[in-house]
Amino acid sequence: MAGNANVVTIEEIRKNEEVQAFISKANEFLSQLGYTEHGFRHASLVADIAGNVLERLQYPEQSIRLAGIAGYMHDIGNVIGRRDHGVASAILAHNILRNLGMPTEDIAEVMGAVGSHEEELGEPVSVVSAAVILADKSDVHKSRVRNPDPLKFDIHDRVNFASQYSFLRVDGEQKTISLEVEIDTKQSSVMEYFEIFLPRMIMSRRAAEFLGCRFHLIINKNRLF
Ligand SMILES: [Fe+2]
Ligand SMILES: [Fe+2]
Repeated sequence: MAGNANVVTIEEIRKNEEVQAFISKANEFLSQLGYTEHGFRHASLVADIAGNVLERLQYPEQSIRLAGIAGYMHDIGNVIGRRDHGVASAILAHNILRNLGMPTEDIAEVMGAVGSHEEELGEPVSVVSAAVILADKSDVHKSRVRNPDPLKFDIHDRVNFASQYSFLRVDGEQKTISLEVEIDTKQSSVMEYFEIFLPRMIMSRRAAEFLGCRFHLIINKNRLF
């Protein structure tokens, strides 16, 4: 691709046939496994939030654009399998971005961010990666629940179903990043939220610190940390 490297935009990624097919199939496969929504809604939201986080903190345009692209592609590897899907996403992204003519260093940046977004293993490796982690972990919402029978809800379904609102607030001046969540405690307890979200919150805190910010979790207007 030397000599004709392109500036690849998020719009190109959104309308790319392979990206669309992989997201759509991955979402279908995860549905079979009983997972919450991981489709176009989740991809778009993570792309937007990841870009916004870096924009708010006044990072360069280049990082903002790559965070959006990495955010959009971070879960495409679920089309291969749930396990190590971050690594699979990175390898699939490599091929797609190369075909679009993205400069190799930018592809490497996206691959690092996409491959490092998962819980337990995921540690921020760059500014773009930190933004994708924060965006991905903040997406908790009742619209993600696909199980039609509330009696068969598992803990993930209950916690997502109970989440009426979630918003990642970035304060560039105070250098704080706060996840604000509104939970209907009739549907799920705050304890349950913690049970499944503690690893995600730890990752979010590390990601915020990577960006030179403090991380706060605010549930039903109470700041928990
Ligand atoms: Fe993921
Ligand atoms: Fe995700």
